[in-house]
Amino acid sequence: MTDPATVQATTAVLRQRLGAAAPRIAVLLGSGWGPFAAQVQDAVDLPYADLPAFPALGIGGHAALLRCGHIGDTPVAVLAGRQHAYETGRADAMKGAIRSLAAWGVQVLVQTNAAGSLDPAMRPGELMLIGDHLNLAQRSPLEGESGDGRFCDMSAAYDPALRAQAQAAARAAGTPLHEGVYAWVLGPQFETPAEIRMLRGMGARAVGMSTVPETILARHAGLRVLALSLLTNMAAGMQEQALSHAHTLATAHGASAHAVALLAAVVQALKD
Ligand code: HPA
Repeated sequence: MTDPATVQATTAVLRQRLGAAAPRIAVLLGSGWGPFAAQVQDAVDLPYADLPAFPALGIGGHAALLRCGHIGDTPVAVLAGRQHAYETGRADAMKGAIRSLAAWGVQVLVQTNAAGSLDPAMRPGELMLIGDHLNLAQRSPLEGESGDGRFCDMSAAYDPALRAQAQAAARAAGTPLHEGVYAWVLGPQFETPAEIRMLRGMGARAVGMSTVPETILARHAGLRVLALSLLTNMAAGMQEQALSHAHTLATAHGASAHAVALLAAVVQALKD
């Protein structure tokens, strides 16, 4: 439920169980990024089930946990588990969660995902910072909202200052970090080679089935957004192998140690 009273009740639980002062940064973990949760020190966990505005995630091995603590000296709230639009046909599954975090006092949403690469220069296992997105699904989590706030500006959706800080952190860590446009497709089927040629023509460098709805919700709620893609495969028609979820996950698991290390460095490098 995402009505204002439920969001308010959720924020009250966050304050009561985790403290009146919210961490400045929330990190949403996508496929392959789960091990980041183990890096959080002084961890306090709240299951989504205790947070009425958070999604009820079905079975299927997805964690559904909010973990608060520190990465180094930086306080963070880590969201392990998200609902995808392809599960329900709705793009607003994370609306209540993001609004509750914003009401608590979180100011920055760092998103992570797994994505296919559309650029032969970006190989599986490498990382891409999202510079901008294409909402190919043409769905909005703000459908049905009222008020002028729904016409929210998306011209710098992925915060330029935070992106520069993330790139500096990657350089300092010696980890290559590509940057480019992420195309959101609804899924859950993978794309056809013709669709991938279309997306490349539109300027996309990566493709995936998540992240964009949460970016829209976060911008609408006044949060700044940073987003990282772990490239798990070359997109359809660009690799010999057929695409499969199992292969995507296997690549994500193989690459997650360096992805998680970079994410920890980035989180600690984010300033105002
Ligand atoms: N397409 C869409 N989503 C994905 C892909 C892909 O190739 N790889 C990982 N998530």
